[in-house]
Amino acid sequence: MKRIVLFMVMVSMVCIASYAQKAAEGTKVLVAYFSATGNTEKAAQQVASIVSGDLHKIQPEKSYTSADLNWRDKSSRSSVEMDDPTSRPAIIDDLKNLAEYDTVYLGFPIWWNQAPRLINTFLEKYDLSGKTVIPFATSGSSSISNAESLSGCELAKRKVDERSDRRRYQELD
Ligand SMILES: Cc1cc2nc3c(=O)[nH]c(=O)nc-3n(C[C@H](O)[C@H](O)[C@H](O)COP(=O)(O)O)c2cc1C
Repeated sequence: MKRIVLFMVMVSMVCIASYAQKAAEGTKVLVAYFSATGNTEKAAQQVASIVSGDLHKIQPEKSYTSADLNWRDKSSRSSVEMDDPTSRPAIIDDLKNLAEYDTVYLGFPIWWNQAPRLINTFLEKYDLSGKTVIPFATSGSSSISNAESLSGCELAKRKVDERSDRRRYQELD
């Protein structure tokens, strides 16, 4: 399991490095991430180091316990949230300087082939219009492409498209 996650992270790093090379010089980069058990946090730290970005940890108002993360339990918090597309777990509102950034790398673990609902909360709370949004994820084996089509990343694409005249969203797969 650990090896698969690391492999995905390494593949993502190569893609991210190539995006970073393409990024215009002088742009300010934010690496925002949610991590329940530390894998995405490590990936985000590596991304931030590669792209010289500032790190922002997306934190739930109520932390996830091991019981909350038990995907085998249909009544666990994560199962209940992921079973409800309208679920928007509250996050701590401490990202005050988003306007300074041109590019936002957005990292999360894959939950049930999707981004955790808390990522939808983030995308709806903060205005990413006009910014380049580059999602990345860690998982046991699932590709990020499912998360893009089903959840927060798709939402990000729509949100950016709707609010800006130029399509600046970039996909990472
Ligand atoms: C509730 C839950 C659902 C998960 N669903 C998937 C999944 O659908 N596919 C997958 O490959 N991994 C899945 N995983 C594994 C996580 O994506 C993986 O362990 C990830 O690296 C955790 O990141 P984190 O340590 O930053 O929280 C799931 C984990 C949890 C807790």
